[in-house]
Amino acid sequence: MHYLVTGHTGFKGAWLTLLLERAGHEVSGLALDPVQGTLFTAIGAESFSNKDLRIDINEASAVASAVKVLNPDFVFHIAAQPLVRLSYAEPRKTYETNAIGTLSVLEAMAATPSVKAGIVVTTDKVYKNVGQSHGYVEGDALGGHDPYSASKAMADILTSSWISSFGGPRTAIARAGNVIGGGDVSADRLFPDLMRSFSAGTPAQLRNPLAVRPWQHVLDCLNGYVMLAESIMATLEQGADAGAWNFGPDSEAFRTVGEAADLAAAAWGPGASWEVDSSSHPHEAHMLTLDATKAKTELGWHDRLSFEDSVRWTVDWHKRVEAGESALNVTLAQIEAFEALA
Ligand SMILES: NC(=O)c1ccc[n+]([C@@H]2O[C@H](COP(=O)([O-])OP(=O)(O)OC[C@H]3O[C@@H](n4cnc5c(N)ncnc54)[C@H](O)[C@@H]3O)[C@@H](O)[C@H]2O)c1
Repeated sequence: MHYLVTGHTGFKGAWLTLLLERAGHEVSGLALDPVQGTLFTAIGAESFSNKDLRIDINEASAVASAVKVLNPDFVFHIAAQPLVRLSYAEPRKTYETNAIGTLSVLEAMAATPSVKAGIVVTTDKVYKNVGQSHGYVEGDALGGHDPYSASKAMADILTSSWISSFGGPRTAIARAGNVIGGGDVSADRLFPDLMRSFSAGTPAQLRNPLAVRPWQHVLDCLNGYVMLAESIMATLEQGADAGAWNFGPDSEAFRTVGEAADLAAAAWGPGASWEVDSSSHPHEAHMLTLDATKAKTELGWHDRLSFEDSVRWTVDWHKRVEAGESALNVTLAQIEAFEALA
């Protein structure tokens, strides 16, 4: 199979590219330049990806031409502006990239006969947040307070509308929770902030230690995306609408930011600490939860890593790379260990 991954230079995209290549697939990528220090540059991915295109998904005609030339069987649309706090600083760019950029990719998929199916990645933040402690299910109402959440809800609704109106390749929507793992260097995300502070020996600043998030290791999330891809490729005759799918952890992993930070600090060892940043910040949801029963029952998917292991694997990745081990070797070792849990 030939997979096109949009956002392959980002955190999830680089892990997914490695997973698909290891499984023997052809993979091409379409994204902006990688942020320095992210997994993509740490593992030297530029040198082994021979179809690595740098294209802005807001440039619809460039995306259409690129997808035609690449001629993939399947498209994982992962590229996005994924940060809540940046979305307050750059709302227009966030709405455009996440909503209209998704439209560019859907149009390109529809115009390229080789494309049989695809997955549009959104998030747990697409649900209208009513503060419930049990997980949101796929049929719950969508909403979005901050520009990021609203822009991803827009992408989600746009994708459903596109499929209902125009059909096209079989397409699913995948909604995941807070994903953690090695090689994420994003600003204003808990684990990258913790790793930077622990490494520098300074207390990490936590904005909302009591906020609850559904934590999940990136390999569990991506395993869900891959199982969904295989499932929809096996059911092409069922038409364009492959539905929406939650990929979140069991409720044991709905933990506060403070609990996650405590566990990470313990895993890091001496010198790792955090404190509350009590300055004022833009609104972020207090409680985010997700119910993945549909993926468990219909795809047979489940998390292989507990909350504790997910945190330990993330800290371990960063400590080993900081100690001088090759990021590629550490990443491949974690993929092998994950595969051994199957
Ligand atoms: N990381 C999480 O916890 C999490 C949780 C839920 C959903 N998501 C979703 O998963 C996806 C990937 O997130 P991530 O954490 O890997 O983010 P990331 O910031 O590490 O990667 C984003 C990728 O999108 C690309 N991109 C951004 N703007 C683009 C543009 N205009 N044109 C082309 N490419 C562009 C970047 O180059 C990069 O490759 C996003 O859709 C995000 O909304 C992430």
